[in-house]
Amino acid sequence: MRVWITGANGRLGSRLMQVLTQVGHNVAGVDVETLDVTDWVAVRAAVRTSRPEVVIHAAAWTDVDGCAREPERAYRQNGLGAGNVAAASAEVGAMMVYISTNEVFDGQAERPYWEYDAPRPINPYGASKWAGEQMVMRASPRHQIVRTAWLFAHGGKNFIQSILGAAQAGKPLRVVTDEIANPTYTDDLATAVVQLMLMERAGVYHAVNAGAASRYDFARYVLDHTGHAQTPIEAITHADWARPSTPPLRCALDNHAAASVGVTLRPWQAAVEAFLRREGLWVG
Ligand SMILES: NC(=O)c1ccc[n+]([C@@H]2O[C@H](COP(=O)([O-])OP(=O)(O)OC[C@H]3O[C@@H](n4cnc5c(N)ncnc54)[C@H](OP(=O)(O)O)[C@@H]3O)[C@@H](O)[C@H]2O)c1
Repeated sequence: MRVWITGANGRLGSRLMQVLTQVGHNVAGVDVETLDVTDWVAVRAAVRTSRPEVVIHAAAWTDVDGCAREPERAYRQNGLGAGNVAAASAEVGAMMVYISTNEVFDGQAERPYWEYDAPRPINPYGASKWAGEQMVMRASPRHQIVRTAWLFAHGGKNFIQSILGAAQAGKPLRVVTDEIANPTYTDDLATAVVQLMLMERAGVYHAVNAGAASRYDFARYVLDHTGHAQTPIEAITHADWARPSTPPLRCALDNHAAASVGVTLRPWQAAVEAFLRREGLWVG
């Protein structure tokens, strides 16, 4: 299959490039240095030249606090940018896979969100990604929207590296207990996205490692299994952690639709273990 990926240098995009290449697909990737997705004329020309059968749009402005400070820029990059990619994909008959986020929800649910639950973003990043979802749905009849959460990746900046970096430097750790979602390994997500892509069934999917955790639980699990079991973490609430963006608090996802087509992801603890083993950091 000819697959064209945006955000190809990002945490997820780079892993998607590897997975798709390994299994023999014809893959081309672009990132912001080669193509700005907010430039409709350039996006249209690039997609027409590549003639992909599938477009995976993994590019986004993922700095949630930056998005809170500059909501118009967030809307342009994450909303209109996705609309450009979807419209260009539709013109060449390509299926459009849009990577979205749990932050389209308000975080008030009493259970993990299902795909049909009504989005109600509470911050500009979530609003911009929800705008992108709506533009994709309208512009491209052949679309998959794949929502995920709390990615951790080799080589990229992420929560695990931040926690371990602070522990190794002997810095005090304060982590919130009331923000809950699904820690998700980009390797597992990339595999799931490819499996869903090959199904070619249009729709909205959630794709996260199974189970939910608070940021505190996630941090504790990482420290306990990397030789830092004695490192204390001060448990705080989101109210103690001032930041420009308001996170949706109980925002775990349930992969109901993906499971219905046989695509499942292992529990988050097993995924973190696999990640730490590959980094040579797991001590059991
Ligand atoms: N990371 C998470 O925890 C998380 C959670 C839920 C959902 N997601 C979604 O998953 C997808 C992949 O996330 P990720 O963590 O892999 O993101 P990432 O590492 O930040 O990669 C995204 C890439 O897109 C590029 N980009 C930004 N604006 C662009 C533009 N206007 N034109 C072209 N490229 C642009 C970025 O360039 P710069 O680095 O120069 O900005 C970056 O290389 C995104 O759709 C994100 O919304 C991520």
